[in-house]
Amino acid sequence: MNPTKIGNLHLPNFIYNAAGVWDTTFDQYNELTSRDYCGAFVTKSMTLAARSGNEYPKYHFSNPGYSINSNGLENLGLYTYLEFARSAHHKPFFFSVGGFSDTERIEMLQTIQNGSLGNIGIELNMSCPNVGSAGPAYSAQTLQDSLNAIFTSIGKPHCTFGLKLPPYFLQSEITAITNVIKNVQYIDFITCINSVPNAIDYDIDNDLPCITPNDGYGGLGGKAILPIGLSNVSRFKREFDKNGMSCQIIGCGGVATGADVYKYMLAGASAVQVGTTLWREGPDCFQRINNELETILQRRGVNRVL
Ligand code: DHB
Repeated sequence: MNPTKIGNLHLPNFIYNAAGVWDTTFDQYNELTSRDYCGAFVTKSMTLAARSGNEYPKYHFSNPGYSINSNGLENLGLYTYLEFARSAHHKPFFFSVGGFSDTERIEMLQTIQNGSLGNIGIELNMSCPNVGSAGPAYSAQTLQDSLNAIFTSIGKPHCTFGLKLPPYFLQSEITAITNVIKNVQYIDFITCINSVPNAIDYDIDNDLPCITPNDGYGGLGGKAILPIGLSNVSRFKREFDKNGMSCQIIGCGGVATGADVYKYMLAGASAVQVGTTLWREGPDCFQRINNELETILQRRGVNRVL
């Protein structure tokens, strides 16, 4: 096991699920939290009210090099996830807070804060690529406006608080987003990256896109996005260090092996999330990936991950 700390939360292991994978139902929650090698639980990104999301097929996993998803925020609604968090558990529980407007985000955040729950964190998802305008974090100005509205309403967060960000492709974007995070002050961590938007693949047996919603366009995940995830972690880490900021970074995108986790460590991640591989292999993947990581840490003579 490779324990780590995010904000004030102690994770028994460095590796856990990415928001949106194996985290929608109570059975999935119990299954992940009962696995020793899964260091925390993040919920499916939620809305105030339950949603059934997009029509099926909305996932494409048959190509080993990548995945495409367009779930459309299918979730059980905030109040059900509050019940999950209240049930006995010993792992940090992250609420992935989605929503369609700042008003909805503020109401969800206030309700979570008023819940008097221990051992929780919030990963505010500002980057959903599959619904409406895709989220405020695609523009530094929109992100700044949104966070100003949120923190004016809720004040200083009561628990470990982070942002799920989209992939950025230019250093100028990384610099602009770093400035926003520095300005708002209350961000303990960022999770980089959400899926890469605007991907499509075709089924050559019926000449149609592989998924149905949004004319076949969805978020790209899996091996194909590992180098983009690594570059986002690495570039933010450099910016944060340059600015003397203590904001931590959680790596997400393309983790399939222990070597991939080690690469995120080299880039500067404080923890790593697994999405596509968890979909493909199920919760057994955490132990396998952890064993592979242990072998690499021993070979490299590294005995701490922090
Ligand atoms: C969905 C996809 C995302 O990448 C995300 O961040 C939130 C929601 C979805 O389609 O449900």
